[in-house]
Amino acid sequence: MAALTASGIGVGFAGLTALEDIHLTVSPGEVLGLIGPNGAGKTTLTNVLTGFARHTGTVTVDGRDVTGWSPQKLSRFGIRRTFQNVRLFGGMTVAENLDAAALGAGLRRAAARRCTRALLDRFDLGPHSEVEATSLPYGLERRLGIARALVGEPRYVVLDEPAAGLNEEESNELLVRLRAVPEQYGCGLVVIEHDMRLIMRLCDRLHVIDHGRTLATGAPAEIRVDPLVIEAYLGSGAVSHG
Ligand SMILES: Nc1ncnc2c1ncn2[C@@H]1O[C@H](COP(=O)(O)OP(=O)(O)OP(=O)(O)O)[C@@H](O)[C@H]1O
Ligand SMILES: [Mg+2]
Repeated sequence: MAALTASGIGVGFAGLTALEDIHLTVSPGEVLGLIGPNGAGKTTLTNVLTGFARHTGTVTVDGRDVTGWSPQKLSRFGIRRTFQNVRLFGGMTVAENLDAAALGAGLRRAAARRCTRALLDRFDLGPHSEVEATSLPYGLERRLGIARALVGEPRYVVLDEPAAGLNEEESNELLVRLRAVPEQYGCGLVVIEHDMRLIMRLCDRLHVIDHGRTLATGAPAEIRVDPLVIEAYLGSGAVSHG
């Protein structure tokens, strides 16, 4: 089956259960929102899906068991991520950051160049291509972080709080860009966000976790009115704009 799946996932940190019996699926072309309160385990689950965390349970990609694969091997297989805090390569320009990511994903030099040019274009980063990446304004830095996760032909991309720190205009712009990604790249997207305005408009389906366990899954319209979700999360500060 074409999907990224996590089954029976558990993660513990020295006595703390960070995740327990999580089952998550995202299909190609689907945008899945992964939401929940601070400390719920969203980043930990991202780490599981992308090879950064030891865990129990199984991860499969398009029918292949990839449990225990390294982040690098998973990246080459098309599983990509961004980090909650942008981690750009310092001392490199914007274009060099994309080149390095493309080479790291296994593309040859000429293909990496073509990929970089296409992403510079698609993410309107062309005018900044020769700028040192870490000296970009914050919004552009985050945009480059997302572009970098899309090098090559990713199967699934996990974005950990892509809108954090963006103003409303930047967040709207991000929504339009992300909405186009599954179609343009044929990949599945998992988006972690506390920006409910973005999440409710962007996602086809939501997966809510709380205290390391699945609280609910369903369409945004269902989740928005789910009493359990409202009590655990939406009622407590995360704003759900109609
Ligand atoms: N390396 C670690 N060592 C010990 N505990 C950790 C570690 N990483 C995460 N935790 C704990 O695991 C739980 C889940 O954390 P996680 O970062 O996955 O939450 P989150 O849902 O991403 O939260 P936020 O919305 O604040 O980013 C928290 O209780 C956190 O303190
Ligand atoms: Mg997190």
